Amino acid sequence: MSGEYLPHISVLLEECLNALSIGAEGVEVPLFADLTFGGGGHSSEILRRNPHARLIAFDRDPEAIANGRALLELNGWSDRAKLVHANFDQLYPWFQANTPGLFNGVLADLGVSSHQFDAGDRGFSFRADAPLDMRMDTSDSSIDTAADLVNTLPKEDLANLIYKYGEERLSRRIAARICEKRIERPYRTTGELEEACFLSYPSHSRHKGIHPATRTFQALRIAVNDELGSLERMLAGLPNLLAEGGTAAIISFHSLEDRIVKHTYKEIVANKNNRVMILTKKPIVPTEREVEVNPRARSAKLRVLRRMENHGGLNGFTEREEESKLERE
Ligand SMILES: C[S@@+](CC[C@H](N)C(=O)[O-])C[C@H]1O[C@@H](n2cnc3c(N)ncnc32)[C@H](O)[C@@H]1O
Repeated sequence: MSGEYLPHISVLLEECLNALSIGAEGVEVPLFADLTFGGGGHSSEILRRNPHARLIAFDRDPEAIANGRALLELNGWSDRAKLVHANFDQLYPWFQANTPGLFNGVLADLGVSSHQFDAGDRGFSFRADAPLDMRMDTSDSSIDTAADLVNTLPKEDLANLIYKYGEERLSRRIAARICEKRIERPYRTTGELEEACFLSYPSHSRHKGIHPATRTFQALRIAVNDELGSLERMLAGLPNLLAEGGTAAIISFHSLEDRIVKHTYKEIVANKNNRVMILTKKPIVPTEREVEVNPRARSAKLRVLRRMENHGGLNGFTEREEESKLERE
């Protein structure tokens, strides 16, 4: 583990807790799933605010899990919270094998944690020179690192990856430069890749707007961790896991993720057997104040889905009433 686990400010915390109905009215021992434990900010608040709540938390990062175990122990929560070191696309198989009961709330706060980004040795950020790794699950040696992708993908595939996952206009130039240079010396560090991106930009735009390496790093991170595929596979199993009146709250941080959440929610609702409703026609976004305090929250979007009660509506409320409750709270 790379030293201490660095702090993470939880995004849209109150909005998530409202959406998940932490009090889970009428449920004596509600069960929640936090699919992205990270620094445990959301999980801790669930456990703190509802002393009866039970929690299953997933994270694929061994450092998050080790830190999480210590956190649960320290707070005396180990008997009602369980940490699972796995990709959340394993939620459904895990659920079938462990049969914990249906969830009253499921939360996913996608992307990387501040710890992963700031730790300096994980390779997610070009602000520190580090091995070009970017795996969230550092214990899985079968996953190609960012260096593996950069050094082995054919030029065309690399350009497409940078364009698709990074929405980088100069993807072809960047891929061409990478492929030209890797013949002399394979890429090993974030600094080497950052330089390739920087020099691929025309000199007059290198210092304008976001750093020239930002989109390429995002693209590689998404590819290394198969972030979009994991999200799609997790969402596919979700409707079967929610208890009556249970909610799913998902925070995304870029348009590729948000599009998947939005469209999959619609597909889930379209299947009448699922008996679910979308409670956020428009996503919930952070207030200006939250973005001021935590600039990493700026692109966050929260979308909420609820499984209906068997006797008809949503706890006796209409869909519009439920929506406006979330807006007000
Ligand atoms: C944004 S952080 C979560 C922060 C957390 N909500 C908090 O308040 O501290 C995202 C975490 O989710 C984990 N993660 C991302 N994708 C995952 C996946 N597919 N399966 C399991 N964990 C994942 C990352 O390793 C990271 O620790």
